[in-house]
Amino acid sequence: ELVGVAHETGLDELRGIVGNAAAIEAYRAGTLPFPDGAILVKLAWKHVQSTEFEPAFVPGPATTVQVMVKDSKRYSSTGGWGFGRFIDGRPVDEAQHQTCFGCHAAGVKQHDFVFTRLAP
Ligand code: HEC
Repeated sequence: ELVGVAHETGLDELRGIVGNAAAIEAYRAGTLPFPDGAILVKLAWKHVQSTEFEPAFVPGPATTVQVMVKDSKRYSSTGGWGFGRFIDGRPVDEAQHQTCFGCHAAGVKQHDFVFTRLAP
């Protein structure tokens, strides 16, 4: 289910953040930390101008898919979250997980390392 959307100007991307039932239930109930089994996925596309209606921007080519999976035992060293990144359906950069966690920990440690809020 959709959690929210984002627009990033640096990489010029449109993003959609979706979550599984465990994540959505925790969002709706305002439960933190997220329970084990919660999964959040960020889908990203290049931000392109519509050829059919100029003021509109639409998804262009897909860029990356990023995943966070909550398993407090397995990923205890990164706040209970496992981080993964995929390009063209293939996993990339196993070593990058600390980078992922670093930025999420710096920004939203008090929100269980999750930036996106449920869209009102
Ligand atoms: C420099 C900071 C930074 C780094 C590094 C980073 N993220 Fe994020 N991430 C964000 C921000 C900000 C958002 C929310 C806005 C957005 O979606 O663009 C976000 C959102 C997410 C979301 C949606 C849930 C949430 O927390 O909002 C997932 C899943 C995610 N990132 C996974 C990853 C993964 C996997 C990596 C490493 C490959 C990673 N992130 C690296 C800043 C970062």
